[in-house]
Parts: sequence; structure tokens; C-alpha cells
Amino acid sequence: MRRFRRLRTSESMRRLVRETHVEKSDLIYPVFITEGKEIKNPVESMPGVFQYSIDMLSEILDRVAESGISGILVFGIPNHKDEQATEAYNPDGITQRAVRYIKSRYPELIIIADVCLCEYTSHGHCGVVCGEKILNDETLPLLSKMAVSLAEAGADIIAPSDMMDGRVAAIRNALDENGFADTPVLSYSAKFASAYYSPFRDAAQSAPGFGDRKTYQMDCANGREALREIEDDIEEGADMVMVKPALAYLDLVRAAKDRFSLPIAAYNVSGEYSMVKAAAKLGFIDEKKIVMENLISIKRAGADIIITYHALDAAEWLEEQK
Ligand code: PBG
Ligand code: ZN
Repeated sequence: MRRFRRLRTSESMRRLVRETHVEKSDLIYPVFITEGKEIKNPVESMPGVFQYSIDMLSEILDRVAESGISGILVFGIPNHKDEQATEAYNPDGITQRAVRYIKSRYPELIIIADVCLCEYTSHGHCGVVCGEKILNDETLPLLSKMAVSLAEAGADIIAPSDMMDGRVAAIRNALDENGFADTPVLSYSAKFASAYYSPFRDAAQSAPGFGDRKTYQMDCANGREALREIEDDIEEGADMVMVKPALAYLDLVRAAKDRFSLPIAAYNVSGEYSMVKAAAKLGFIDEKKIVMENLISIKRAGADIIITYHALDAAEWLEEQK
């Protein structure tokens, strides 16, 4: 008889035949940075996640630096928001100042800069707005300026998350023309209009003031279209591509891995985090086991890079397992 159970008889045997391993170096931790001083605001819907002012960042970044994870994804939250998202590309904006500070204090950490206008616009949309319409081509120059200013500040990777068409080519061009030919682009290529982002919109104060994001983010029903988006971003010059959210979209992580040879990232988003934290708090699940199972599954599906709010906890648990 074929006995699959022979290879499951002990933890040592299981470890010997284990196919997938999550490494600390796979992980990226998102950080929210706010203006002002001595601020450490808890994000209510994301237990364990805080908004920090720059002077308070060392509290979390010292932990990140010691943890062995690869780096952080930075989200700045400006005080001033307007129609043209001017703070997004202000060389002295909150995000640019934060990136400069982090690069000088923690040179070995990879800093990924999220490039999108929604935290900076008065209406909370990811692009320039005219009436109720979110304009595509008018948004590209602003995204390009934002990308260049963040590269100048010291960002190691530029990650456009706006879902405007043609933004990867526009940003690549702008980076090249401004002396940043060596700065890679990680495109949020297959980014779905998802209810899993709602806790993030509290954390980054970026909820749209009217309507929704369905004219630019993807319909959750469309898998083949996601592959076209990814293919197009690769043609436009993306160095890495992302699927977002992760857990409900692992079919696309796998499909992308099978079709394309560049690194694939998956974003284990705010709502996925909040659901685990809430159920764990109620005692309905074992947080550590659920988190590790989720991360292994994202990796098994094909992700090379996992962006997750669990990164620091996971790094500790991986260390314990050694
Ligand atoms: C900005 C952006 C969002 C997220 C990452 N970058 C929000 C959105 O598109 O509404 C979501 C991340 C998360 O939910 O953890 N466009
Ligand atoms: Zn946005």
C-alpha cells in the first residue's frame, strides 16, 4: 500500500521533506508616519499597529533592524491635503523627510516607497479628479514627480499602487532621466478593489471622500485580466510585480509565478491582518499558528516577497523555531 503517512511520523521527518520555508528575508513590514512630535497613535482596527512621528520611529525601527527582515514599506500621512496632492512630491514632505531620516539611521534596511496620491489628496482618490472622474493621464506626471522625490530622499524601491494605466513607463522614464536608472520599480500590478483595505484607510487616513476605487482598481472576479495587467507592467519596465490582497488571490500569485520569471510580491493586507487579530483576541484561533500557516501558504503559492503587518511577530516566531 502507498503510505503517505510514513513521511509524517515525526517532526524531524516532516522537516526533512518540507517543501516550503518562510525566511525572515522574505518579509517587509509596513510603517505609517505622521507629522508632529512625540506621536504614537494606535490604529484601532489594527491592534499592534501605530502611526509614528519621525522622532518616535526608532522605537519600531530598532526592532525592525534587529529582526532580520528585509525592510519596510513607508506610508506618509501629511497634515495638508489638496486637489493636486502637492505634499506627495514636496521634497520636504513628511514621507520624503521620513525616508531621509530612515536611510541615514538604518542604511541597511530596504526602504520601499509606496507611490500613490490618496494619502495626499483632499478627496482621497489615487489620482487627479475632475468632477466625479478620476483622470488617468493627468495623474502620471504627479506620480512621476513623487517617485523621483522619494528616490532623491533615499528610497531603495519605488512601488506605484495607484492603478493608473501607463504609470510604470512614466515613472521608469522619470527615474532614468533624473539619475535613478538603478532604482527598481515594484509595481502593484494586480491590485483589486477590495474591502480588505478598510482598516488601512483608517491607518493612512486615505478613504475616498466620494465614490469608490472601482474605475481604477480591479474587479475581484477577474483573474485573466490580472495577468494582462502584470504582463503590461513588465513590458513597461517593472522589475518586480505584486498581487494584492494576498490570501483571497493566491490563484493569481501562482499563475503569475508560473508565467513570469521576475520576483513576485504579495501584500497580506490590513483586513487580512485585522481578521486574524480579532479572532485571536476572542480566543477563536491560535494567532501564531494561523499567521505562520497564512505566510507559508502565500510563499507556497509563489510569492518571493511578502508584505505583512505580522512581519515582526513572524520574525520572532521563526527565530524560536530554530
Ligand atoms: C494606496 C494603498 C492602499 C493600500 C496600500 N497602498 C489603499 C487603497 O488602495 O485603498 C492598502 C494596504 C492594506 O490594506 O494593508 N493606494
Ligand atoms: Zn491610492
